[in-house]
Amino acid sequence: THPLRLGIAGLGTVGTGLVKLVQTNAALIEARVGRPIEISAVSARSRSRNRGVDISGYAWEDDPVALARRDDVDVVVELMGGENGPAKALTEAAIAAGKDVVSANKALLALHGQALAEAAEARGVALRFEAAVAGGIPVIKSLMEGLAGNRITRIKGVMNGTCNYILTRMEDAGLPYDTVFEEANQLGYLEADPTLDVGGIDAAHKLALLAAIGFGVQPNFDAIELGGIEKISIEDIRAAADMGLRIKLLGVAQMTGRGLEQSMTPCLVPADSPLGQLKGGTNMVVIEGDAVEQVVLRGPGAGEGPTASAVMGDVIDIARGLRLPVFGQPATTLAQPIAARATAS
Ligand code: NDP
Ligand code: HSE
Repeated sequence: THPLRLGIAGLGTVGTGLVKLVQTNAALIEARVGRPIEISAVSARSRSRNRGVDISGYAWEDDPVALARRDDVDVVVELMGGENGPAKALTEAAIAAGKDVVSANKALLALHGQALAEAAEARGVALRFEAAVAGGIPVIKSLMEGLAGNRITRIKGVMNGTCNYILTRMEDAGLPYDTVFEEANQLGYLEADPTLDVGGIDAAHKLALLAAIGFGVQPNFDAIELGGIEKISIEDIRAAADMGLRIKLLGVAQMTGRGLEQSMTPCLVPADSPLGQLKGGTNMVVIEGDAVEQVVLRGPGAGEGPTASAVMGDVIDIARGLRLPVFGQPATTLAQPIAARATAS
């Protein structure tokens, strides 16, 4: 049986995690899938950087977009990040070249997902992005497959581990926001642009993707009421605790009398609830549907192993020949969401 051959663009936290996973679990994945999954070619900015993994057996491309043109690449895996630039160019080029694409890039998909989905479906290729939402938690697979028979009524949850780390650390250690922010920075938790994390933008990108799948709407970041955690003070945290509450950056997408409403804002939740108990970088997504009632998914929202696990799940689906619409129903049938953004003060 012929192997499924990957071209990986980006060898940072997630990319090296994927290389390690392919190398470590090759035999068991082949046994499950019935064909080998191999890496043909890789790309990153620096060819000489020591990444702690052996990439000497793979072809190297200085230009990531060149991966889309290689005959020995069946699936392009985009793990560079960024909503424009080479990530967008590579994704478009791969689709145009008839290659399946796996991505962890929530910014790209939340902002350009509709156009990319239409292009992928018109070309008959897969575009999968499990790793883009809630790291290692298979939340997209749950929504698109196991829960596909439900009318989804609400999706809510904590989808940014960095914000959850900052809020729980302020609470547990009684430290002010600025101190904990610096601590998160030292630990390498923050995105290159920390506003993406603490401004709620990264989490809102993720919510836009889940809402598209759950509610059959076009992914629309601008439809999400947005508020960050930058202004949460230790006094706010203490006042909430005095009332048996905790502050969480909570995403909510739900059907109301006005249609689909989406928000990603700091919210008060009962301290003894599953969301209130959520600590550190862990994510939690709660899905409610008319038949299933409620499903709670909890797990690591980021990191090398968990995120690579989600990427590999998508690659395995492609190897098995599973073909799903990008957002669970044909992209041309997705409805327009309400597009008014109110910014939380
Ligand atoms: P990193 O910053 O660790 O790695 C990015 C990689 O992309 C690096 O190898 C870098 O090259 C390469 N790269 C960046 N820009 C270019 C460019 N212009 N041309 C070629 N290569 C480039 O990012 P992560 O691994 O953390 O994240 C990758 C993606 O996964 C992002 O979309 C992120 O949002 C998403 N994600 C990350 C998670 C995490 O836990 N880290 C969790 C879920 C999703 P070089 O190494 O040479 O600098
Ligand atoms: N910065 C993100 C977080 C990484 O903290 O959740 C995972 O998407």
